[in-house]
Amino acid sequence: PVLLGVIGDPIAHSKSPVMMAAAFRAAGIEGEYRRLHVKPDQLKQTLQDIREQGFHGINVTIPHKVAVMDYLDELDEAAEKIGAVNTIVHANGRLKGYNTDGAGYVRSLREEAVPELAGRTVMLLGAGGASRGIVHALLQELPQRVMIVNRTEDKARQLAGEFSAEIPVEGYSMEQAHRCLPGVDILINTTSVGMHPRTEDMPLPVELIPEGIVVSDLIYNPLETRLLRESRVQRGCMVHGGLGMFVYQGAIAFEHWLGFRPDVQVMRQAVLDSLA
Ligand code: ATR
Repeated sequence: PVLLGVIGDPIAHSKSPVMMAAAFRAAGIEGEYRRLHVKPDQLKQTLQDIREQGFHGINVTIPHKVAVMDYLDELDEAAEKIGAVNTIVHANGRLKGYNTDGAGYVRSLREEAVPELAGRTVMLLGAGGASRGIVHALLQELPQRVMIVNRTEDKARQLAGEFSAEIPVEGYSMEQAHRCLPGVDILINTTSVGMHPRTEDMPLPVELIPEGIVVSDLIYNPLETRLLRESRVQRGCMVHGGLGMFVYQGAIAFEHWLGFRPDVQVMRQAVLDSLA
C-alpha cells in the first residue's frame, strides 16, 4: 500500500485524512494516509522516520511549513519562491518539497468562479503566508495588477516588493484600499477574519465592495462567511468560498505523489460530509 500522511500541531481537526481516503477509494488505490501529531521539537526526528519507514510522501501543515525546509534534499521552484512547503514527495531516497496551496487556490478560483484571470485587477486582504503563495500563483495567470492590502501596511509593501516584475504588485494600507476598490475585479480575503467561531467579523465594510465583482474567501468554516454572504446579497457579487482551495491543494499533492489527477468531486464531498 501507498503510505502517506500529514504532520501538524494541532492535527486532530485536519480534514486531509478523510479527503485523501476518499480520493484513494475512488481511484482504486490501496493507500494509508496517517494523521501525525508532531510538535516542533519532534520535526527533525519525524522527517528521519518518514525516510526510514518508507513513506511515499506527506502533507505539512501549521506550524511546520517553513521549518520543514531544513530537512529536505530539494525544493521545487514555487516552494523556493514562496518560502514554505505543504507537500513532500519521497522518491529514490530523496525528499522534495512542493507548495500546492497557491496553485490549489488558483485552480479552484478558475474552476469555480473565474475561468480566465488574465487582465484582471486583483486585491488581496492580508500579507501573510497564504497571501504570498496566492500572489505567486496568480502572477502565472497574467493578471493586470495585484494589490496587497494589510492591517500592517509595511508587511503589505514588503510582500509586494518581493514580486514586482512585468506585472505591478503593490502594497497598501486598509485606508488606501478603500480608495482603490472601485477598480477591482476580484477581491480575495486571505486573513482569518470571519472564521469560526468569530463568524460575525468582517475584514472590510461591505458597502465599499463594487457591485457585481468576484469576492473570494479562503475560509471554509463557515462555508459561506459573512463577507461572502453580504457581498452576494447586498452587492450582487459572485462569491467563491475556501473549500475548493483545500480540495485542490490536496488534489495537486495527490498528483505529485501518484502521477495522475484524483476525483475532486469525491474529495469535496468527503470534506463536506465530515463538516456536517
Ligand atoms: P496565513 O499563513 O494564514 O497567511 P499569517 O502569516 O499569520 O497567516 O498572516 C495572517 C494575515 O492575516 C496577516 O496579514 C494579518 O495582518 P497583520 O500582518 O497586520 O497581522 C492578517 N490578520 C489576522 N488577523 C487580522 C485581523 N483581526 N484584522 C486584520 N487582519 C488580520
